[in-house]
Amino acid sequence: MTISIIGSGKVGASIALNCGLRELDPNINLIDIIEGLPQGEAMDINHQLSVQGLDSYLVGTNDFSVVKDSDIVILVAGVGRKPGMTRMDLLKTNATIVKDVASKIVHYNKNSKLIVVTNPLDPMTYLALRITNFPRNNVMGMGGMLDLSRFTSFIHDYTKLSRDSISAMVISEHGEKMLPLIRFSSISGIPLTNFINESQSNEIYEKTKQVAAEVIKLKGATVYAPGNAVSIMAEAIVKDKKSVIPLSACLDGEYGIKDVCIGVPAVVGRNGIEKIIELPLNDFERKEFESGVQNVREAISVLPL
Ligand code: LAC
Repeated sequence: MTISIIGSGKVGASIALNCGLRELDPNINLIDIIEGLPQGEAMDINHQLSVQGLDSYLVGTNDFSVVKDSDIVILVAGVGRKPGMTRMDLLKTNATIVKDVASKIVHYNKNSKLIVVTNPLDPMTYLALRITNFPRNNVMGMGGMLDLSRFTSFIHDYTKLSRDSISAMVISEHGEKMLPLIRFSSISGIPLTNFINESQSNEIYEKTKQVAAEVIKLKGATVYAPGNAVSIMAEAIVKDKKSVIPLSACLDGEYGIKDVCIGVPAVVGRNGIEKIIELPLNDFERKEFESGVQNVREAISVLPL
């Protein structure tokens, strides 16, 4: 397999490093329009992987056509949010970029899996799906995997129990309406509600939703957690792992919803999104989920399609 990462900024480089550390593929392309940036990042990462004995080889290039042979294309190109901005504030700017990049991808390669990272994630996943016209199982957005990383971190903070024992789930919009699912999270199979009370649940719920903005305010961008989250999705495809991962998928009747990309649990393997898992949501969860769907639909309605 070959992986191509389009966008060699901090997140793109973090994705490349994390894919290398998982030794996902002998060939990982790092692409950018900026002369020298992908080449320098690739060299730096290769130097680390070499001494670790890991045989993923990063190639940094400004030649977009390398995507023609890629089994997995990761779309990171776009502008990151600044402190005080929401992800949705990036809609207009990044829609132009994603439309252009998606058009180039499908010009060179009509059969790859596509992992979208650019924000606002769910509308950009939908835009990339529509512009490439790829089968919906081949296009997924990285959102929920990152959100659950944070949810897991807060569960650890509150319970002081091993992160390795924690299983968390976050669905809906990768944005203001994200939905950390306390009821579907556990510690070694024991429901999370056995370890935290309602007030703590509410605190963790709010912190999970807001923490990305806090990181951006402190250090200017989120880098390592997004890079790791994308590499988990890529690994599930490369190794045909059948992993259950929350991700932005285009629904076509699941949850009674059609024609929108939104965060749902899915089985990920060699064929991309192999199954969308429909959770038995209660009334509160359903209402929150649908609120996220509505937010994304409003954004989709103004996309340059
Ligand atoms: C974040 C960005 C990637 O949540 O949306 O860090």
